[in-house]
Amino acid sequence: MRVITTIKEMQHTMLLAKKGGQSIGYVPTMGFLHEGHLSLMEKAREENDIVVISIFVNPLQFGPTEDLSSYPRDFERDKELALNQQVDYIFYPSVKEMYPHSSSVTVKVNERTDVLCGKSRPGHFDGVATVLTKLFQIVQPEKAYFGTKDAQQVAVVEGLVNDLHFPVEIIAVETVREEDGLAKSSRNVNLLPEEREQAPNLYQSLLRAKEMILNGERNPQKVVSFITEMITEKTDGKIDYIEIYSYPMLKELTELHGKFIIALAVKFSKARLIDNIILEIYEK
Ligand code: PAF
Repeated sequence: MRVITTIKEMQHTMLLAKKGGQSIGYVPTMGFLHEGHLSLMEKAREENDIVVISIFVNPLQFGPTEDLSSYPRDFERDKELALNQQVDYIFYPSVKEMYPHSSSVTVKVNERTDVLCGKSRPGHFDGVATVLTKLFQIVQPEKAYFGTKDAQQVAVVEGLVNDLHFPVEIIAVETVREEDGLAKSSRNVNLLPEEREQAPNLYQSLLRAKEMILNGERNPQKVVSFITEMITEKTDGKIDYIEIYSYPMLKELTELHGKFIIALAVKFSKARLIDNIILEIYEK
């Protein structure tokens, strides 16, 4: 495994690999790798000749009240984990390398951003789209892997590559879960013991909602009310949002039909957890 820190070397190395007929699978990350990331690398390893990950904490996607400097970092540990996943290259640029001067061009995302987590993070997805545009040009992958846990990010990235015609296939990888169904997250360790016991109810409420829908419920409001009641009753968490939208366009729905997402965010005392399921219903 090689660590590359300059854009020039990364581009050159990838160009040689492509000339040699090798396929490139890419997992963009901000480091501090967890099991979700490892599952993306595993999938990339299965499907490509070369696996590249990047580790770059992107200042552009942090808001003025979000603390960029306290974002967790541990490169040595990340390197070890990537090595275990048989990653071939880590692209690990500095901020100066990625943003040597103030940007004369950035990417603005016009849709899919003013709902779910994007609502409270104005500009966040512009930062994500801008850095991914740069990273895709540097790594030039055939396939790029993203976790479905952050389904809004997947939707935005699909919009980016479709609208701007990037020759890269976006692969959305299933959320990794604990045995009791709780979505794995580095934030789960911040749950109090009783909150940890309650937290699987988030996914359970999504599964019960799915059951309701499969049994014929088509009213999104009724499904949202059901989930709200279940989470309020079974947890001490404070609901941030429970929303249903078409997927990946993230438009409001008056009736549950086609492909859609049920997503939620719940705040516990020291951890805000998110989860979602994506369903497809086509009446005969
Ligand atoms: O999901 C992340 O870690 C980041 O948003 C990404 C995709 C690496 C872009 O900085």
